[in-house]
Amino acid sequence: MRFETIAAQGFLDLEKQNHTVSTPIYANTAYSFDSVQHAIDLFDLKVGGDIYTRLSNPTNDILEKRVAALEGGIGALATSSGMSAILIAILNITCAGDEIITSSKIYGGTYNLFAKTFKQMGINVIFIDSDNIDDYEKAINEKTKCIYTETIGNPSIKIADTEELSKLAHRHGIPLIVDNTVPSPYLLRPIEFGADIVIHSSTKYLSGHGNAMGGIIVDSGKFDWEQNGKFKMLTTPDESYHGITYSKEFKNAAYIAKSRAHLIRDLGCCQSPFNSYLTILGLETLHVRMERHCDNALKLAEYLESHPHINFVKYPYLKSSKDYNLAKKYLTYGASSLMGFGVDGDGKKFIEALKLFIHATNLGDVRSIITYPAGTTHRQLSDEQLKRAEISKDYMRASVGLENIQDIIEDIDNAIKISRK
Ligand SMILES: Cc1ncc(COP(=O)(O)O)c(C=O)c1O
Repeated sequence: MRFETIAAQGFLDLEKQNHTVSTPIYANTAYSFDSVQHAIDLFDLKVGGDIYTRLSNPTNDILEKRVAALEGGIGALATSSGMSAILIAILNITCAGDEIITSSKIYGGTYNLFAKTFKQMGINVIFIDSDNIDDYEKAINEKTKCIYTETIGNPSIKIADTEELSKLAHRHGIPLIVDNTVPSPYLLRPIEFGADIVIHSSTKYLSGHGNAMGGIIVDSGKFDWEQNGKFKMLTTPDESYHGITYSKEFKNAAYIAKSRAHLIRDLGCCQSPFNSYLTILGLETLHVRMERHCDNALKLAEYLESHPHINFVKYPYLKSSKDYNLAKKYLTYGASSLMGFGVDGDGKKFIEALKLFIHATNLGDVRSIITYPAGTTHRQLSDEQLKRAEISKDYMRASVGLENIQDIIEDIDNAIKISRK
């Protein structure tokens, strides 16, 4: 099956689901056991099956299988939000005393999780300001457990060199974990460029309609966790499951099996079946939406670039972008719908004059959304941190929606005029 077919109907089992053509919502908490032995085997992870919705659920299962297939992975875990996907993805292989390496140009929420919460937990995160792979290499030491990056940074719109980062990580026996929220698997499949673990805030393009919080972790199944003794959590017995060793029991699915058996069990940040249902509905049109998102965004970026009162435009499919070559290498159809630009006018007046663009902090919605990072998502960051994240005070982040492109351009044009009065 090709991408569009998997997106539209992957893993539907019509007979099992009473011939309902749309995915049913299993609004259900617990599952009956066939016998006491069956329950024992389920609890010992000797057989697969549902026990309790915090761990697994048939609606969530369809979402997980579909996204795993779209990303080219061997398995996935749906979570309650993108943040909980990142939390679990990292905690699955790190503990106090460990280090991870990341770019400083990542989503503000992830930055806070790494810089503050992980620090409190004793996990040290090294932020790299430059795009130079050598700077990442210099930061690696024996405590480093992974490299983490965003394939397209939000709101920096920076394209990561996923292939080079994965080669570097693998040379040092550690995995590359990427957040692929902004391109979605329709535009970029990071596993094909060597990424080991892919996470998403499904809140964004995957669900696509701004109505379902969610996150998902996809395991490529390609990383060898046993190669160097660095990943003891996966390669030594887990006492809470009568001493099973994930890498022995689940082989190349060890990572994703542990994330479910251990972390979603203990942390409880599971996806609700209703949100999974909404996300599955979104997935069914992902490929169609992404094409229009990309077309509208490129047209708006080209218009803004030629506008006399726009200070700068950041959109990787513009030929003038310093990431243009990376964009052409990694992004098959277009550069998604996230862009940044600076208005030569009063920023507050600009935002408030917009009629079609909604002033909110989200992206990947069918509706166009404008965000002012320095005043909202990145408000907690110091001036120094803002500089490192390349967020200037006039930076406007737009997530271009699926409305008529002429209406989108006219809305921005009108707001620029008002911002200069
Ligand atoms: C790139 C990226 N990753 C992760 C997140 C966090 O996702 P969520 O809001 O679903 O927790 C966001 C949220 O904006 C994001 O933009």
